[in-house]
Amino acid sequence: MPSLWPPRPAYPHNPCRFRRGALHGQQLEVRMTKPYKRSISDSAKSNFHPVAEAAEVVRRVVDHGESLDRLLVQSNLSGQRSEPVFREIAYGTCRHFPHIDWHLGMLLERPLRKKDRILHFLMAVGVYQIEHMRTPDYAVLNETVRAASSLGRDWARKLINAVLRNYLRERNPGKLPEMPEHQVHAFTEFLFDLIRSDWPERYLEIAKASNARPPLTLRVNLAKTSRDKAIQALKENAMACTATRDSPAGLTLSSPVPVKQIPGFCQGEVSVQDESAQLAALELGCDTNLNVLDACAAPGGKTTHLIELLGEGRSITAVDLDSRCTLIHQNLARLGLNANVVAGDLLKPETWWDGNPYDRILLDVPCSGSGVIRRHPDIKYRRKPRDLDTLHDLQASLLASVWKLLCPGGHVLYVTCSILHRENDGVIADFVAQGDDREVLAIEKIPGVATRFGMQRLPGFGDGDGFYYCKIRKPLRTAGE
Ligand SMILES: C[S@@+](CC[C@H](N)C(=O)[O-])C[C@H]1O[C@@H](n2cnc3c(N)ncnc32)[C@H](O)[C@@H]1O
Repeated sequence: MPSLWPPRPAYPHNPCRFRRGALHGQQLEVRMTKPYKRSISDSAKSNFHPVAEAAEVVRRVVDHGESLDRLLVQSNLSGQRSEPVFREIAYGTCRHFPHIDWHLGMLLERPLRKKDRILHFLMAVGVYQIEHMRTPDYAVLNETVRAASSLGRDWARKLINAVLRNYLRERNPGKLPEMPEHQVHAFTEFLFDLIRSDWPERYLEIAKASNARPPLTLRVNLAKTSRDKAIQALKENAMACTATRDSPAGLTLSSPVPVKQIPGFCQGEVSVQDESAQLAALELGCDTNLNVLDACAAPGGKTTHLIELLGEGRSITAVDLDSRCTLIHQNLARLGLNANVVAGDLLKPETWWDGNPYDRILLDVPCSGSGVIRRHPDIKYRRKPRDLDTLHDLQASLLASVWKLLCPGGHVLYVTCSILHRENDGVIADFVAQGDDREVLAIEKIPGVATRFGMQRLPGFGDGDGFYYCKIRKPLRTAGE
């Protein structure tokens, strides 16, 4: 067992520890290749403890690249009174883990044995609470130690106590040995380097915004009510909110609440949707009676917005893979709306397309999610270098495929929730180079950072997430005709 007694001097005096911290960073790159069999409750054994459960969730996200949302839904605490605190601890520790991990690397004399790695995450959860929550330090120490016992590791109580006490004593010495920049900003090295190279002037602000707690933003269904009325209804229920700057239908709650408590949610007067996501349907521009395709539609956030904007009875087809269409139906049902939902593969339009070309196509492709890390901090651990090649190829194939479904004079709005050039301008550059029937149009209704082909919103711009939009028109006649 790593020894911490007697307490060592503050870690600036021990530069070799820096290397150990860096090694931890590399361990983050391990990815799960096989399904992980243990359930979260197994880890907590009989004396289930919420802090132990949070540590296990973080371990599975960081070491195995599992989905944070899915783990939280599966957890024993889902629906329990302590769920909000448990979620805050799990989310927050995932958000800040690369930074916390560096400190733990300094404080531990050597890494824990593989079978005891859960304790590393238990300490990380403790450090997160000390740094970012209002829980008194003594309570954090007590609960973390108790959580170790609940995991059947009584032997580690002293170790955990010592590490957290040393952390409290030494976390802010005058000078720390140099921490790698990606860990200063709580990012994995690969993702941080990509963001810094794509946004050399703005990467620090992006990292900061990506580590902030995201706001809960609503989209008011302007076909049913007004934004002012929605704000009034929220205020009457003691829920403070502000109107979003760029989306005329958006409002942001000052403190998140369970959606079912939001007035008008169950009646379909409001939906949860980020401000940047709300701007896509506005930009698509469907003011006349046009044939519209929402490609990559699930779970239906933008489909339902399009229907709210256009009115029912308009021709809107929403396509997604079979397994995802239930989500679209659920969203439509809650809002009492209808659309032509088609379970189909966009890469094989011959299997589902009726041959009627579309005037407008919204193509919201699968992407790295690098613009929504503040909502999904697990993206930091789930994304690997090879994913970007795979995603780029899929994005390019989807764009090429839907292009064939577009009528001359119509346009596609290509959208990602990524801030990486390769998935954004990179896909468009390849696409426009492949034919002279592709005219890039200006983005008109979305403020942001203009890029070579489109418009980028960075995370935290307005109230919104990081999104990219590019509009491409198919001319009525191609050159030479
Ligand atoms: C970013 S999400 C779309 C979000 C959606 N537009 C919204 O606002 O709620 C991307 C979607 O693309 C879908 N998708 C990926 N490949 C596809 C394919 N070959 N055919 C149809 N849909 C696909 C995924 O199932 C996923 O639902």
